[in-house]
This record gives sequence, C-alpha cells and structure tokens, in this order.
Amino acid sequence: MSSKSKSYEYTLLSPEQGEEGSIKHRNKSRWLSRALRGALYLVIGSSLLLNVFQLMLWLPHKRADVLGDQSVTAYAQLSWNTPGKFEHNGIYDNENSTVTEEAWDSLRYDLGSIALADEYVNSVGLPKAQRFPWDYSKGLYFLNGYHGIHCLKILRLTLKELFEGKNTTTFHQGHSNHCLEALLQDTLCFADDTPRYTAEMHPGRPGDGQQRVCRDWKKLEAFAQTHTSCWRDINPNESIDTLLRYRYCPPGSPYLERIHKIFGDFETGPNANKDN
Ligand SMILES: *[C@@H]1O[C@H](CO)[C@@H](O)[C@H](O)[C@H]1NC(C)=O
Ligand SMILES: *[C@@H]1O[C@H](CO)[C@@H](O)[C@H](O)[C@H]1NC(C)=O
Ligand SMILES: *[C@@H]1O[C@H](CO)[C@@H](O)[C@H](O)[C@H]1NC(C)=O
Repeated sequence: MSSKSKSYEYTLLSPEQGEEGSIKHRNKSRWLSRALRGALYLVIGSSLLLNVFQLMLWLPHKRADVLGDQSVTAYAQLSWNTPGKFEHNGIYDNENSTVTEEAWDSLRYDLGSIALADEYVNSVGLPKAQRFPWDYSKGLYFLNGYHGIHCLKILRLTLKELFEGKNTTTFHQGHSNHCLEALLQDTLCFADDTPRYTAEMHPGRPGDGQQRVCRDWKKLEAFAQTHTSCWRDINPNESIDTLLRYRYCPPGSPYLERIHKIFGDFETGPNANKDN
C-alpha cells in the first residue's frame, strides 16, 4: 500500500514581490508568504497524520502476512487474527487434576452438529447431506473443529480407562483408530509452519509460552449456534433412536412446539439422556 496523499503545487514568490518592492508591498508579501507557509504546513501536517493513520491500519495486516494468511474461510468467515500461545501445563494438563478434569468436561462438541439450508449449501458447493428432521429443506453437517474435539475427548477417556487398568473401554478400539486417523489428517492438511523456539532449560518443550496466531474459536462457536441442529450426544456409546438426539433446540426455536408434541416434556440439563 502506498501513501496516496495529494500533491500540492506551489510557486515561489517572484523577486518583485520580495526584495525590490516597497515596504508596504514587502509587508503585504511577507504576510502572504506567512499565510502560504502556514497553509503548506497545514497540508504537510495533515498528510503526515493521514500517513500515520494508514500505517496503523496496515501494520496488523502486515503482521498477519508473516504469521498467517489474510484470507477468510468460506463458511464461518474466520481468519488468522486471534492471538494465542503454545502452552505447557495449561488447564487441559494441569498439575491440579481437578482443574484438568473440569476443563475437559466443559469442552462440548454437541454444537458441532449443524443444519444448513440447501440453498446455502448449493451456493458454497458443499455436498448434499441427510435431512434435518425438523426442516427437510436443510441438511445435517458436522463442523470439523468440533469433530476434532469429539475425537480428543474419546481418545482421552479411552487412555484414562486403560491407564486405570480397566479391562473394557467405553468406546471400542475402532473409534480410537478413526480419531487418530482424523486428527492426523487435520495435522497434515493444516501443515502448520510455525517454528516453535527451543530453550536450553526445556529442550523437550519447544515453543513453551510462545505467541502464535489463531483463528477465533468463539466466532466458530457463534456460527455453530446460529445453525444449530439441536443435537445432543446423549448416550454417546449406544445406538439409540437418532431422533432422540435432535430434541435439544434452544429456547425460542421454531421447532420446539413440534418436538414437545412428539416427546412431551423431557430433561434438557447436563444429565439429559434417552430415558429422562
Ligand atoms: C484444585 O482446583 C480446585 C478447583 O479449582 C480447587 O478447588 C482446589 O483447591 C485445587 N487444589 C489444589 C491442591 O490446589
Ligand atoms: C473386568 O473387570 C471387572 C472389574 O473391573 C471384573 O469384574 C471382570 O471380571 C473383568 N473381566 C474380565 C474378562 O477380566
Ligand atoms: C456405555 O458406557 C457406559 C459407561 O462407561 C457403560 O456403563 C455402558 O455399558 C456402555 N454401553 C455400551 C452399549 O457399551
């Protein structure tokens, strides 16, 4: 980007207007010259201010050029604009195991299930999906970011159960294998080129505390909420009537009346399941 301040032409005062004129003339021309100089300073000053302002607008973009890319995703309109950090022993691997458990428990992937109108789907070139039960002009999709969270939760639970010496796991091995494959594909697809710095103190913790640039998860969440399919993964390791999982529409949803006609009243709190 270049500074596009207008150029202003000015001409020097002629000698007649200066040295050789009468005192009166000289005073007048001095006044004129001062006025012109003042105007010039004003123009230069405003131009400088404008340049500084443009630079301020431009700098964050320049930073994004280096650390990420400025393009916007096709669906939730996300870009690489959110500061983040490589972190060890954050809330998801905390020395206080209560903190760790609470952090993982509060991660929800239900929101990842969304219903998108066919019209929108066609306009962005997504494949057509199975029907959303409460509106057949919409298809069901699962946001990949939330799929990743779902996978991480399953892998974590399975590892935990195995470390505890349990002889059965809540989710069978096939689920873990699928999740490992999916997360690997994400890693390869993402091809993250951020160099993690290494420190002598912690050679096994490259990048510890280092700044990085992220996309805005909250914005993805807002997109998910806007398009919610009312899905809740109740009885997650069981095959139940699928419709039971699409009952959990938020207050004000146009589908709630029909849902309550079919299912009556049911539990919508954290302990909701197929039987309550
Ligand atoms: C661990 O975290 C929990 C929840 O924040 C807190 O109540 C508890 O006091 C912490 N325990 C220790 C040993 O710091
Ligand atoms: C699995 O563990 C449970 C207790 O956690 C035990 O009752 C059961 O016999 C074990 N099953 C096998 C096949 O080892
Ligand atoms: C699902 O997981 C729960 C909790 O681990 C367990 O009690 C139940 O038997 C599991 N159901 C199936 C069908 O595996």
